[in-house]
Amino acid sequence: MAHGADAKPVDALNQAEAKAELARLAEEISAHDVLYHQRDAPRVADGEYDRARRRNAAIESRFPALVRADSPSARIGAAPASGFAKVRHSVPMLSLDNAFNAEDVMEFVDRLRRFLNLGAEATVEAMAEAKIDGVSISLRYEAGRFTMGATRGDGTTGENVTANLKTLDDIPEGLGGTGWPQVLEVRGEVYMRKSEFLALNTRQLEVGAKPFANPRNAAAGSLRQLDAAITASRPLAFFAYGWGEISAPLGETLAAARDRLRSWGFTLTDSELCAGAEQMIAYHGRLESRRAGLDYDIDGVVYKVNRLDWVERLGFVSRSPRWAIAHKFAAERAETVIEKIDIQVGRTGTLTPVAHLTPVTVGGVVVSRATLHNQDEIKRKDIRVGDHVVIQRAGDVIPQVLEVIQAARPKDSRPFEFPDHCPICASLAVREEGEVATRCTGGWICPAQAVQRLKHFVSRNAFDIDGLGGKHIEAFWRDELIASPADIFCLHERKGEILERGGWGDKSVENLIAAIEARRSIPLDRFIYALGIHQVGEATAKLLARIYHTLDHWRNSMDMARDRESEAYAELTAIDGIGPSMADDILGFFAEPHNREILDRLSQALTIEEASTPASLQTPLSGKTVVFTGTLISMGRMEAKARAEALGAKVASSVSARTDFLVAGEKAGSKAKKAAELGVTVLSEDEWRELAGL
Ligand code: IVH
Repeated sequence: MAHGADAKPVDALNQAEAKAELARLAEEISAHDVLYHQRDAPRVADGEYDRARRRNAAIESRFPALVRADSPSARIGAAPASGFAKVRHSVPMLSLDNAFNAEDVMEFVDRLRRFLNLGAEATVEAMAEAKIDGVSISLRYEAGRFTMGATRGDGTTGENVTANLKTLDDIPEGLGGTGWPQVLEVRGEVYMRKSEFLALNTRQLEVGAKPFANPRNAAAGSLRQLDAAITASRPLAFFAYGWGEISAPLGETLAAARDRLRSWGFTLTDSELCAGAEQMIAYHGRLESRRAGLDYDIDGVVYKVNRLDWVERLGFVSRSPRWAIAHKFAAERAETVIEKIDIQVGRTGTLTPVAHLTPVTVGGVVVSRATLHNQDEIKRKDIRVGDHVVIQRAGDVIPQVLEVIQAARPKDSRPFEFPDHCPICASLAVREEGEVATRCTGGWICPAQAVQRLKHFVSRNAFDIDGLGGKHIEAFWRDELIASPADIFCLHERKGEILERGGWGDKSVENLIAAIEARRSIPLDRFIYALGIHQVGEATAKLLARIYHTLDHWRNSMDMARDRESEAYAELTAIDGIGPSMADDILGFFAEPHNREILDRLSQALTIEEASTPASLQTPLSGKTVVFTGTLISMGRMEAKARAEALGAKVASSVSARTDFLVAGEKAGSKAKKAAELGVTVLSEDEWRELAGL
């Protein structure tokens, strides 16, 4: 957007210029509204967008006769969500694991049984609830009064949208009934009824505004209004399904807790208490057949363990609870034609074939691309350019090609030839034995990989640099302002060059430099994750940080581990969760000179914080290495591992001289023998429970 310092002041515009400028602004703002509200993919910073709207309003107030019928200021609900205060959730708002079929659900119930160490015949009661396709919200009540409401955001920090939420009839200002805890955070979903959504879109069209793509986007857009009066004019509703922080328990079961929430004035999701997987799956089937007739969008069923003491024991794995799972509905399908097959190159060099399709509507969304995954997938389904295909789309997942309609295949079609060179940098593309992916060997010299790696480096869960989005990375890379991660930390030396670029002003450059400076110190786990090593996600990065503590120690250990006979290699692969293939990727990363140079430069430019067990977490198990063997009676292996890790221990899969404790259950075999030989302390199950404070 070009209305920064270089745009002509409003006072200096003549009538013709003002008219042209209003036309330009109307088009520009509307384009950004679409990106923002309908695709949730804004291309400009909120501040810039606000400036455009303010300029539009200022010109209109000077030239009232020129106000256009499609003026952005006349349109309801176009202001973006800037200026909302950030809120840190006292209990994080997590996401759910997915189940896609009956087997996944049975496996979920089996997993619960194993974790809780219940017999194979034990019944696990679960609440099956409609999964609402809306916007996740947390509502805080103190002494029965609604004090604050926030969006989910990244799960840890959301936006304060209290004023807007107060306009919803379903959200009580004061709790009804009796017996509510002093602090109560109600979690649920803000949504828009399908009937209301259609009526709203009709109104949008009448005033010349863009319609919303679906009820969820309409709900999200309506909630993120700076002017609560606009939210009030939108028909939003709320379903409660759970809670965050509470100062007193809500009951012994989820069923009881739901009854209490209802008695305090909340509307709860459609639900049914089920005894076991069969009943859960049956509810899923019944709800799916009612789906089209419901006046709100749902995208599946959530199953939740009913006993809250079990919920407590089950806890969480990284970002999702062990005690719940989302069982999605079958994806929607449509028929279309493959116009062309493109190859995309990802961050780790993987060549992904993408089908360009004749656009087709699937479940209310226009689809024009589908992933073809890899070479084998194309071969297996014999997918060719020109083919008529059935595609399917499930939730936010990228659409997939299900099958080729053979009868409609053009006579002259030929099998697709998968490239053996990278289409971006022309480096050799290779497929390692046993792998499905073909990968470009260009590394940092491949523009596609370099840009994706840089984007990953600054992404939210890595360096999280405010104001340095994907588009900036692409532009800076193209213009050679950054070629490697460490260059980001030298951008302050190139302020002048950034200022010369369109769209940057003194203030925005200063903000960018400040945001970069704020990340000059970073925890080791985030740093490891930011490196973008193949297979090393957030959970593995945390594990590595906890085990190696400092970058230097990790790096030295990895250098030594290149010798597969070394103790360092044995230590790396003994970490529970790191197998030989991941170890190969990690060691491969350190073997590449370019990566070593990146590490050298980054460790000079940054302070990488040492990972340590927090003082509040000093337990008899802090920093100890524990190995479990044999069968435990009181808990499953997974629960034992989770407990040990929660108390600061590392859990290894094999016994070595570095093992502190071997917990030996029934039928402990060779590991117990080896522990005895090495003089490692062997604990019985009771001794382990005592040490863990159970
Ligand atoms: S329970 C720890 N129950 O689905 C997370 N979530 O995919 C517990 N959602 O972010 C979530 N209906 O916004 C739960 N009946 C329901 C739900 C539901 C919709 C959303 C929720 C969550 C997302 C997870």
